[in-house]
Amino acid sequence: MSQTPVANWPPAARGYFGIGAERMSKALNLGNLMRSAHGFGASFTFTIGATYQALEARADTSKGQWHLPHFNWVAVDEMALPEGCKLVGVELLDEAIDLPSFRHPMRAAYVLGPEQGSLSQGLTERCDHIVRIPTRFCVNVAMAGAIVMYDRVRSMARFAERPIRDGGPKTVGAIPRRSGA
Ligand SMILES: C[S@@+](CC[C@H](N)C(=O)[O-])C[C@H]1O[C@@H](n2cnc3c(N)ncnc32)[C@H](O)[C@@H]1O
Repeated sequence: MSQTPVANWPPAARGYFGIGAERMSKALNLGNLMRSAHGFGASFTFTIGATYQALEARADTSKGQWHLPHFNWVAVDEMALPEGCKLVGVELLDEAIDLPSFRHPMRAAYVLGPEQGSLSQGLTERCDHIVRIPTRFCVNVAMAGAIVMYDRVRSMARFAERPIRDGGPKTVGAIPRRSGA
């Protein structure tokens, strides 16, 4: 599997997004989330009240995921997003919008909850929207982040239509494809 970024892949969507998590405590999870964020084309990542242990992942400069600007806000009140950027909470709540039915904002910051617990009330109140992934129980936080980013790219970037029958489209036209794929 190639580790080398391919020009024009994945197809770019308009707008931008960032992704982060509240009170994250495990470096492995933060590292995974950041690596996925980079892969899916995020413009920035952030943490709010992350533990020292979680942020320790940053010290390891050999890790490929630290390529994006990262904001580490100590508390929710410190959080400063770019103007016009909508905050989208990701939480398994009854009142949340089902992710497959959600229209992603052009400019968005997605925020996940901690490994143990949920998004705080203060942060929930700041959110413009809250979405839930259709799973029967909570999945790993970095996994949840990757699913949300996939859904954004899938619904906002230009891909060839899926055919009616199984398999891929016959022609790809102007849609950029990874060479050899
Ligand atoms: C592992 S879960 C938190 C643990 C869970 N609240 C518990 O104690 O049972 C970590 C975070 O992942 C995200 N998450 C996991 N599964 C989700 C889902 N199905 N829908 C939306 N968010 C989810 C949420 O942001 C959640 O706060």
